[in-house]
Amino acid sequence: MVTLRNAKRHLSRRRDVIDEALENLVQDRLTGTDAPAMNLASDILLAGGKRYRPILTLLAFEAAGGEDESEVLDLALAAELIHTATLVHDDIYDQSKTRRGKPTLHSTHGVSHGIIAGDYLFVMGFGLGGRYDEPIVTRMADTCANIASGELLQFAHIGDLATTPEDYYAIIDGKTAGPFATACACAGMVARSSAADVAALEEYGWEVGRAFQLVDDLLDLTGDVSMGKPRGTDVHEGKMTLPLIHALTMLHGVEREQLADVLQNFSDDRWGELTALLESAGSFDYARQLIENHIDRALNSLDLLPQSDAKRLLAEVAKRSGSRRI
Ligand code: IPE
Ligand code: IPE
Ligand code: MG
Ligand code: MG
Repeated sequence: MVTLRNAKRHLSRRRDVIDEALENLVQDRLTGTDAPAMNLASDILLAGGKRYRPILTLLAFEAAGGEDESEVLDLALAAELIHTATLVHDDIYDQSKTRRGKPTLHSTHGVSHGIIAGDYLFVMGFGLGGRYDEPIVTRMADTCANIASGELLQFAHIGDLATTPEDYYAIIDGKTAGPFATACACAGMVARSSAADVAALEEYGWEVGRAFQLVDDLLDLTGDVSMGKPRGTDVHEGKMTLPLIHALTMLHGVEREQLADVLQNFSDDRWGELTALLESAGSFDYARQLIENHIDRALNSLDLLPQSDAKRLLAEVAKRSGSRRI
């Protein structure tokens, strides 16, 4: 039985399943006509992502009563391939230098190669996901379309000091929480679970995904070496993350003006100033509280599902999403 003490080992087993399947996929493709594309894409694919989405796919399938893991493996791989595709493209338009602790694909091979590698990973992912029934494929397609909408909305709000929490949630639901929700819901569908259980898994995915992105955005401000990317990227990019939106609402007078100036004319020597303003507005605590709320909601959404090891692991992943460890 899964306990608090052995959860890490059980999660590692799921992670190993995914890593091994990805390695097999890479090896297989390196002997095909698409070898040049896989050669290009394999480094980032095997560079040690946390594998949240495919691990959740496996666990949601099991928690929904699925027994034969091989039935859901392609879906799990599809989630990771599509996710990696979005990262390769995201790093181009965010002009990011580091990803998964390594130089980004476009910075070593050029933007054209980054676009091709991203397209290739995306198509590989959709090829695997497309093997499932129509409702699953439609959900995947809708989710990918919403990633595009989320990213575009984020661009529309770059440097926009009037961005609201609602705008922020629309962005993160599109780019991050939606893919988590769809991975979990579709895994339940593959397990031929009831509509109610699929809805519960979907809700779990939304809430873990929101917590996950909020943590990512908070760590961008507070810093964490385990992130595999430098601190402060969001601020340099003019991304309006929730702690910033909160501080802009809470602060008044001189402090509000100072914050607007820091955000509009940011440079690394202004970190101390920014951190002090966010502390003064209570924005770090606010973000931490919201993360807790999303994790609690994720845990509550599991209530409906029958007790199982997979359900205990889903609960564990939700709790760990607060620290981004799996
Ligand atoms: C990065 O996703 C983009 C966000 C949604 C924050 P992950 O943090 O899951 O990245 P990897 O897959 O572990 O590299
Ligand atoms: C990641 O978004 C890309 C998607 C989720 C599609 P971000 O730009 O916020 O994430 P990082 O900070 O580059 O990992
Ligand atoms: Mg981005
Ligand atoms: Mg980015």
